[in-house]
Amino acid sequence: MNEFNSSVLRQFIDEGEKRAPPVFVGRDDILDDILSISKRSWKPGAWFREGNHGIAGNTRIVHGAPGAGKSSVLRKLRDWEMTPSVALGLSRIKPRVLLLNSALIARPLDILKPLASLICKRKAPDFVERYERSLSLGVNLGNAGINMQRQTRSYQNHSLTGIVDFQHWIDFLPKLSRLKSPVIIAIDEAQRFNHDASSPVAQVLQALHDNAWNLPLTLVLAGLGDTLDKSRKMQLTGGTKLHEVGCLSFKQKQQVMQGFCQTFGINAEGFENRLVTYAEPSEDWPRHLHFAQAILGQELLKNHGDIRALDWILLDEEFQKSRIRYYQSQQSNPMRSLLGLMATVMEQFKTDMKLEDIKELIEGNVKSQAGFDLENSLLEGRRDAYELIRHLVHQGALQEAESGIFYSPIPSFRSFLIEQGNVDSKVENTVSGNSSSNL
Ligand SMILES: Nc1ncnc2c1ncn2[C@@H]1O[C@H](COP(=O)(O)OP(=O)(O)OP(=O)(O)O)[C@@H](O)[C@H]1O
Ligand SMILES: [Mg+2]
Repeated sequence: MNEFNSSVLRQFIDEGEKRAPPVFVGRDDILDDILSISKRSWKPGAWFREGNHGIAGNTRIVHGAPGAGKSSVLRKLRDWEMTPSVALGLSRIKPRVLLLNSALIARPLDILKPLASLICKRKAPDFVERYERSLSLGVNLGNAGINMQRQTRSYQNHSLTGIVDFQHWIDFLPKLSRLKSPVIIAIDEAQRFNHDASSPVAQVLQALHDNAWNLPLTLVLAGLGDTLDKSRKMQLTGGTKLHEVGCLSFKQKQQVMQGFCQTFGINAEGFENRLVTYAEPSEDWPRHLHFAQAILGQELLKNHGDIRALDWILLDEEFQKSRIRYYQSQQSNPMRSLLGLMATVMEQFKTDMKLEDIKELIEGNVKSQAGFDLENSLLEGRRDAYELIRHLVHQGALQEAESGIFYSPIPSFRSFLIEQGNVDSKVENTVSGNSSSNL
């Protein structure tokens, strides 16, 4: 058993979710699939610019409600770059991982420049220079047209320039500067991509998806429940496979809580069951398990790592409050302005409902509330029931399965929304006077 490590525990609490979880559990099927498809994109023994690498349509989408563990999956992929692979076949090949965030991707170069650096760092500036040059020539041509044409042409210039110049750049790379392994391009927060199919960024993503450069590249998009919609809009279809992340299992929750103690040198002997009971309100939702660990860690710091000295009643209360505070912060303005409707819809929602059923449910409840106008009730402009459903998926209140059936991915968020809509809400009473938190 390690010594109690208070400085590392303090660091974990201070850094919060920016840091990888102390113990990462599960998700093996997702990691294995991504790793295997990436390895399959690699043709051993071939020069990387001989044109026979890659598989068209091997994009993977990792989606889930807020706090499900999407970013953690991408982080884990990147960690695997360093460790021996457990995926089947081609065991000596370790894919490189290029981890990007959609918030920093506004133009093709934001993907192509880091990719060029990863393929051949020394020659990457040549690509950027070439790209900027052809773009300025192209945009100048575009300036001759009228406004709309100019915009369309400059759009096309951006995309084609990126795609064609990247191919040229690869063709003229020295043979010895070839890639030595396949590359996974993992883009987090992909639900923020709000491009149509002809936009420059979407075209680069399509080029990756379609294997336009015959390179051993695999595109992985991670994002909220509406990521699939966004990727369809960008025409990243045909072969794309979805992976949903959600609740952990009971056993994984146990592993997380025990692993937490082991990592920070806390002797939890005899407290195994108490730890699980304490973490129960998380309903096995990864973000809540993070809160459970952070609150437990804070109390342990006050008690020099002695689990026996903890006030478990206080801990239970603090953990419950953290969940409620989190859900309150998860409520968007439109949801807040519709508390009553949200409560009724979430209460009457049944797990096997389809889009049309939920639309009817919303519209039926809107009609029964005299004088209530859905389209004008939301603060962010006019919306209809479909838009509201899309919004609820984005916020993590609902989730669509591949079969088109909806469900509520975070059970306790649903209960919260139901309680929140009641005037004598249990929720409001529980959190009154507890607005300050560093979680
Ligand atoms: N597989 C896992 N094992 C243990 N803990 C996990 C796992 N996945 C996620 N967590 C915990 O849950 C927290 C939330 O995970 P993460 O940030 O990956 O969620 P997310 O789905 O990316 O959330 P968001 O939608 O807000 O971006 C992490 O800080 C981590 O502590
Ligand atoms: Mg994330």
